Amino acid sequence: MKLGVNIDHIATLRQARKGVEPDPVHAAVYCEMAGADGITVHLRGDRRHIQIRDVEVLKKAVSTRLNIEMAATSEMVEIAAGVQPWQVTLVPERPNEVTTEGGLDVVINAAHLAQTVSRLSSHNIRVSLFVDPSLDNVRSAHKVGAQAVEINTNAYATARTEPDRVQALRAVDDAAKMAHKLGLGVLAGHALNYRNVGPIADMKLIEELNIGHALIARAVFVGLERAVAEMRALIR
Ligand code: PXP
Repeated sequence: MKLGVNIDHIATLRQARKGVEPDPVHAAVYCEMAGADGITVHLRGDRRHIQIRDVEVLKKAVSTRLNIEMAATSEMVEIAAGVQPWQVTLVPERPNEVTTEGGLDVVINAAHLAQTVSRLSSHNIRVSLFVDPSLDNVRSAHKVGAQAVEINTNAYATARTEPDRVQALRAVDDAAKMAHKLGLGVLAGHALNYRNVGPIADMKLIEELNIGHALIARAVFVGLERAVAEMRALIR
């Protein structure tokens, strides 16, 4: 299973002073040196952490795979077309949310998403949709032309009781099986950490995990390379 490291929080720290350090580009290099298989950044409409300059320089600096999370807007499609990342992950975005709050409702937004996927695909960009683990979402992702889905693991990660956790885990597994059956790439992520990643990492159909907050939080104490290497060891 591959590990994609979300380095948004490096940029969050830089933006606290609106300066130049720490630089997410440096972080990407350290992550790759420690064995990350990919680098993920979320370019938000409000530019609260990652900036356009970051995605432009990351595109040149990243030697693994650059995955840009973004909302399905015309502005973002244009930026992606210019940067040409390996993959775009479309996510819902609410202006004042602390982090992405859930997956896309692919069923309700099918027409708009189909148009966005088609525009990105015409620029040869692979498109993944961030979805909650429901079979309808996965089927719709396939219908609108996405090449992959990233299954939201938040319900699993934040479940308070064992039955809820087991149910949420099963939902992720079912969604992964459906996505695989439809020929979609299968990724997962959100709220995964060193303690809860194990059962998700055991799901053989999931190709890649995107992990940010827990990993960068640990890096504050043990360093980025060690934090990445430890997570990588856990998911392999
Ligand atoms: N996947 C998606 C689509 C996300 O929006 C995020 C958060 O930016 C992540 C994965 C990583 O989540 P976390 O920071 O909780 O590991």
